Amino acid sequence: MTGLISISLTACGQQTSAPTASQETPDAAQRQIAMESDDGERTYKQVCMACHASGVAGAPKTGDAEGWAKLLEEGQATVTAHGWVGVRGMPAKGGRADLALRDFARATAWMARSAGGDWPNPDDAMLAAIRDEEVKRIAELQARP
Ligand code: HEC
Repeated sequence: MTGLISISLTACGQQTSAPTASQETPDAAQRQIAMESDDGERTYKQVCMACHASGVAGAPKTGDAEGWAKLLEEGQATVTAHGWVGVRGMPAKGGRADLALRDFARATAWMARSAGGDWPNPDDAMLAAIRDEEVKRIAELQARP
């Protein structure tokens, strides 16, 4: 009996799929791993979902291929930068001043994937491209009367 229990625990410890909050409460070490391997969904739930789940103020809705089609076409660097800087009802950084660009960009990519896009978690080259677009966007906004 004891042997069976230890076998099943071992098998459980080796599972590779990411645990979800409803399945178990990970200890601190596992939580750290979960954070490091975050695919944007965590930030999405904490910051973006409030508007993007239901489409508050015209926010492109999560999972809505039609709503995201134009944005997917526009491209990851441009769209991420425009959201980051803020546009109409979209507050800069999703209204979370202490949010890192990497986390914002991951949440954006996660939403894009939910709507049928194939945007990956941004690597350093993509983050640099987003920064370039950010500079361009700010200059554009400042040039407006
Ligand atoms: C207070 C509501 C609100 C929150 C919170 C919010 N958004 Fe938005 N978001 C909007 C609205 C509204 C738009 C549509 C703006 C428009 O085009 O008029 C938008 C648009 C966007 C766009 C498209 C930008 C473009 O180029 O048109 C991106 C990307 C985006 N949001 C990402 C995010 C991410 C990532 C988060 C969380 C970190 C987030 N948003 C949180 C309201 C919100």
